Amino acid sequence: MIILGINETSHDASVSLIENGNILFAGHAERYSKIKNDWYINKDLINDALQYGKPDKIAYYEKPYLKKSRLMFGGSSDWKPKFDIEHISRINFKHHYSHAAAGYFTSNFDDAVIVVIDAIGEWNTSTIWTGENNKIKQRYSINYPTSFGLFYSAFTKLIGLKPNEEEYILMGMAAYGDPNKYFKEINDYFPVFDRQKYNFHRGINDWQNIILEQDKFDIAAAVQKVYENRLFEFMIYAKKITKKQNLVFMGGCALNCSANTKLWELFNDIWIMPNPGDAGSSLGAAAALYGSHLNWSGPYLGHELGSKYPVIEIFNELKKNKIVAVATGRAEYGPRALGNRSILADPREASIKDEVNKIKKRELFRPFAPVVMEEHASKWFDMDFTSPYMQYTVKCLKPKQIPAVVHVDGTSRVQTVNRYQHPGLWGVLNKFYLETGVPVLLNTSLNIKGQPLLNDEQDILKWNLLYNKNIIV
Ligand SMILES: [Fe+2]
Repeated sequence: MIILGINETSHDASVSLIENGNILFAGHAERYSKIKNDWYINKDLINDALQYGKPDKIAYYEKPYLKKSRLMFGGSSDWKPKFDIEHISRINFKHHYSHAAAGYFTSNFDDAVIVVIDAIGEWNTSTIWTGENNKIKQRYSINYPTSFGLFYSAFTKLIGLKPNEEEYILMGMAAYGDPNKYFKEINDYFPVFDRQKYNFHRGINDWQNIILEQDKFDIAAAVQKVYENRLFEFMIYAKKITKKQNLVFMGGCALNCSANTKLWELFNDIWIMPNPGDAGSSLGAAAALYGSHLNWSGPYLGHELGSKYPVIEIFNELKKNKIVAVATGRAEYGPRALGNRSILADPREASIKDEVNKIKKRELFRPFAPVVMEEHASKWFDMDFTSPYMQYTVKCLKPKQIPAVVHVDGTSRVQTVNRYQHPGLWGVLNKFYLETGVPVLLNTSLNIKGQPLLNDEQDILKWNLLYNKNIIV
């Protein structure tokens, strides 16, 4: 049976197609429409997906009547799901169940606690589940308006950033601030994981202090600290009530890589699907309907550019110009460029960071991430686990050797790669290592400013015209 999973009408619409446990396709609407965080599915995306097969059933990532009841409670009701294909039956799953299924059924755990934390779906905002023998059971829930995600988004808005989109910028700013300056005030907004000051959906409306430029960084630092504290307490509770040693962590909050690292203190093993937010829930809904573990082979599941990974060409360009743009193979399913739609660069000089920032026209304080050969990771970064999808921030052990990929607080958001996970990218790193003694490259997303990751052949042409610098395909 072929199942088409759908996630739409909130941020980050996506579709996934699975057949008997194999993932045929998974892609984001924004990559086709070029509308960042696009809410709606478009024809080009559907056509790309349906090349791989005709669905027998549609799995939808939310329960529309539950969602509507919560929206009416919040004061708006003009919402309905849009996408359907005539004559194909549709089965709806709860928002948090879709997240849980996306995580558990792509993991290699038979037995695990599944924690889902996001801003809001229907009513649930934080849930704890167990996954045992392919069965997912809910054990605990926190409901709207109490919400980790809404707390974080409200402060994102307070410091002048775009909520539901720029939370990652607040996270990056935290390293530049003093967490203690506003800690008490911000902690009072969210003192216990199931209790908050008020409904953050409407923003922070009683902030008394004037917000000067440095205050934004101090607020960011305190928000991140409060979030990390509540998250850690919630995870301790999840472990206590389920007695599980393996964690599956899903929901938009699982994108907070600074907070994720500390969770290794609590669990033997952790799986965060590389697309843990709502965009990953089209795969979650499809997996929920399939009802069993999927064959997970990696996040390269989107649009196919169809060429062999150009290892030699990338390496030669790196040697010559230190920065190289790469678009090849299938697009990443998830927010991170993990080698197939990436800008790679030599990390050994700090000035490279400014050059890449110039190409990307983004805020200068924002750090770039390293990709490192897995076998060398623990010598260069303080980590005893792998991070194939850039989900953890760890201390860099040799910051002077790779300054372009170290944040101001001495940490890096690491992607580890081994020869099986991505032979081409590993091959480039290995060549660079043999030449320089450094098994690390800078890896950042290949996109035109303000637009999603590059996707197809037309995007490549546009980039080449705009930057007068050819992408290696
Ligand atoms: Fe969600």
